[in-house]
Amino acid sequence: MDTITLPTAADMHIHLRQGSLMTMVTPAVAEGGVSICYVMPNLQPTISNTEMAVAYKAELEALAPKVTFLMSLYLNPALTPDEIRKAAKAGVRGVKSYPRGVTTNSESGIESYDIYYPVFQAMEEEGMVLNLHGEIPSDADKNVCVMNAEEKFLGHLKDIHLAFPKLKIILEHATTEAAVNMVKSLGDTVGCTITVHHLQLIVDDWAGKCHNFCKPVAKYPSDRAALRNVIKEGHPRFFLGTDSAPHPSHKKEGPDSCAGVFTTPLVLPYLATILESFGALDRLRGFACDFGRAFYEVKNEKWVGEVKLVREEWNTPQKYSFGGEGIVGEKGDVVPFMAGKPLGWKIASIN
Ligand code: NCD
Ligand code: ZN
Repeated sequence: MDTITLPTAADMHIHLRQGSLMTMVTPAVAEGGVSICYVMPNLQPTISNTEMAVAYKAELEALAPKVTFLMSLYLNPALTPDEIRKAAKAGVRGVKSYPRGVTTNSESGIESYDIYYPVFQAMEEEGMVLNLHGEIPSDADKNVCVMNAEEKFLGHLKDIHLAFPKLKIILEHATTEAAVNMVKSLGDTVGCTITVHHLQLIVDDWAGKCHNFCKPVAKYPSDRAALRNVIKEGHPRFFLGTDSAPHPSHKKEGPDSCAGVFTTPLVLPYLATILESFGALDRLRGFACDFGRAFYEVKNEKWVGEVKLVREEWNTPQKYSFGGEGIVGEKGDVVPFMAGKPLGWKIASIN
């Protein structure tokens, strides 16, 4: 098989940034073969209310008019059930919880999801999605670090699901076998996104290699195998959310490397190459196109195209430049995932 034809894909977890970086990244969504994406709210300031989400969406649409942007709010203590109802009416699709946000008003990190139960109740009633960054904060005294932060979070996922069985919850960017098993064990309202890079990387690939460093970090070979296996199974509650998170190269390469891997412009070529490497190419369409749309109950899309992938060995770009003449803001480069490395598939056309 040397060609694959697919509908344009759905990336259900993406960071599109602001300013000059947004100007580069947003048009690259379609370049990677994606026509619908779920947009993360961790801007500065965070997207914390309906007006901000609506305004951000308009900025993104101006840069990529054909792409459907599903918007999210940043879970924060000021979010009220009334604001949830307003957001739902305005078409905002969900709310994202980050460990840091949840730490507010609680002693030890994520312990106090309880304070958000009225918000979760309103979300359940409105059919909104709750997106969980599933890590608890590192705490040396309790032996919590980046390697076990996800596994130790999973009890919170279960508790919220049991309290709100009809609330759609997504465990974002799962990296562990424990997470896969937990999501599988819960009801149909619980989904899970998997990134491109976590299907490829293990600890050895990011330790000392800043461009592969992201949160949650890639873990053991057995964890990567669990992520691969659930895709091989074609499990419909596990779907693509790239967590593509571009940072200027000087911020990745500096003494305190920013977390985030940039995959947006090459999503389908990466996925076809990586899925083929573990015998799951036949699952590409379900994982990247169908399951995410189904979980989010997507009804209206601005455009769904047809992507043709061809088997061809080629090397990915070393960098993508942003900013410069006529563009307000910072100027720089972003180094993509697997920069300069060979891929086995290329996008021939998108119609
Ligand atoms: C994300 C980013 O850079 O916005 N980085 C990452 O490593 N995933 C933040 C996040 O989602 O944790
Ligand atoms: Zn993210």
